Amino acid sequence: MNNMPSQTVNIREVQTTPFEGQKPGTSGLRKRVKVFQQEHYTENFIQATLSAIPDGPAGATLIVGGDGRYFLKEAIQKIIRLSAGNKVSKLVIGRNGIFSTPAVSNLIRKRKATGGILLTASHNPGGPDNDFGIKFNMSNGGPAPESVTDKIYQITTKISSYKEADIPEVDLSELGTKSFGDLTVEVIDSVDDYVLLMKEIFDFDMLRSFFKKRSSFKVLFDSLHGVTGPYGKRLLVDELGLPASSVMNSEPLEDFGGGHPDPNLTYAHDLVERVEKENIDFGAASDGDGDRNMIIGKGAFVNPSDSVALIAAYADAIPYFKKSGLKGLARSMPTSGALDRVAKKKGVQIFEVPTGWKFFGNLMDAGKCSVCGEESFGTGSDHIREKDGVWAILAWLSIVAYASESNPNVSLNDILNKHYEEYGRNFFSRYDYEEVDSEGANKVMAHLTAFINDKSNIGKKIENYEVALADNFEYKDPIDGSVSKNQGIRIIFKDGSRIVFRLSGTGSQGATVRLYVEKYSAKDYKQDTQTAIQDLIKIALDLSKLVEFTGRKEPTVIT
Ligand code: G6P
Ligand code: ZN
Repeated sequence: MNNMPSQTVNIREVQTTPFEGQKPGTSGLRKRVKVFQQEHYTENFIQATLSAIPDGPAGATLIVGGDGRYFLKEAIQKIIRLSAGNKVSKLVIGRNGIFSTPAVSNLIRKRKATGGILLTASHNPGGPDNDFGIKFNMSNGGPAPESVTDKIYQITTKISSYKEADIPEVDLSELGTKSFGDLTVEVIDSVDDYVLLMKEIFDFDMLRSFFKKRSSFKVLFDSLHGVTGPYGKRLLVDELGLPASSVMNSEPLEDFGGGHPDPNLTYAHDLVERVEKENIDFGAASDGDGDRNMIIGKGAFVNPSDSVALIAAYADAIPYFKKSGLKGLARSMPTSGALDRVAKKKGVQIFEVPTGWKFFGNLMDAGKCSVCGEESFGTGSDHIREKDGVWAILAWLSIVAYASESNPNVSLNDILNKHYEEYGRNFFSRYDYEEVDSEGANKVMAHLTAFINDKSNIGKKIENYEVALADNFEYKDPIDGSVSKNQGIRIIFKDGSRIVFRLSGTGSQGATVRLYVEKYSAKDYKQDTQTAIQDLIKIALDLSKLVEFTGRKEPTVIT
């Protein structure tokens, strides 16, 4: 469909009325598909998003794509019609509307686009009865800041019409460029640019020669039927020469095969089972839109807090960092302090930011952060402005290849243990209480707030621990000076152990209470995590009265 003559299009102004609750959270607007399917609902939000673009939609270039979930196709056609209606000049769309979140972030930067519209609800289930989402990213490739999402929300509360062009359904299965009035729609391969970027970052020759030398080394990447299947196949199978059996669930499906596309030990259980049964050396999974990751091995689990610490420690295994050096490191507040120890040893600055990837973006734009991570299975670097699941997998394969130069048969556990021996171990675990009723969740937080507000608790002995600090985490962005309050209740003990409570900002039903527990041990690193932290869990449950207030005796997920 190249070089088709431009068609003239008719633009209509469609009357509408506001919908309640179109307030984008950290990761855009996430609702049930049925909510988005209401007449005008999706159009209202897209119009508000386009109107909130800082320099206006006219003349903008936007990268558009999503994780393949149900309702993606309809949403993209609406975006095309509204973009033409609002005089956007170019849309760059992945074939069949598919793009991983990291791929969009990369393309925004590479094409110097105005921004991007990402159609995903990340790791939430998909299908007609599940979730859909729309998120706007800025010209730096990162999620829109609150000033923009607030503007979007304000517009949704007052909207009375949207502008739409009469454009028949555009075929997104064919690559090429088509024009509709002043709008150009370019459909591109979803994977090509991302593969080029990965080849700039990692040493593919080193990886290939490692796989050749250690031909028995088995890799298994589970895409959980999310967007990363085609990326995984291209990189692992076509580029690195691994057998086709190294990828599983690699066909993107609208409902993720009925699964929950979240890479953790609970939802990626098929992978976990296969890794154990088939003696797989390296197992990995990614979420629906490809920004999260989990790394495991036979009998080994790389805790996400450790993952970012080890990537930083092994920066020399990755040409991208070797070239530019580590400019700084960053983690979210609930993430364990394992990374801080690496920062200290390497003599680089470490930042502790609130939960949410957008906080890393400012640091990266200011050249203050190279590697960052979150306990929520997010790891990334300043190559883009989103976390990046496939990047993390290549980073870990690079670590293994690099470590095998001195220990040819090195395993993931060997690598972890060597690190713990050198740095000590930050035992870390997160307990999730999902879909609890909001009233109970609020009572837990109110009860804990009373505890931190009572200053007589500082210095108090609880079992073997002494309270050193108790607060609600507050962050002042060192770049723009903005202050984010109430980012999670922390109780920090004298020995550095911590208990953190937060309410999730990403759920779509009820409330999710997250409890994070951390304990450092300089020597005794071989214990099992749950054993190491059990006394702190007990203290956390006592202090919060969580069981009483929520009626939940057990968490729904432990990571
Ligand atoms: C998304 C964001 C992450 C953040 C996570 C927190 O995945 O991209 O940066 O860590 O949400 O989720 P929560 O449910 O804990 O608010
Ligand atoms: Zn995601």
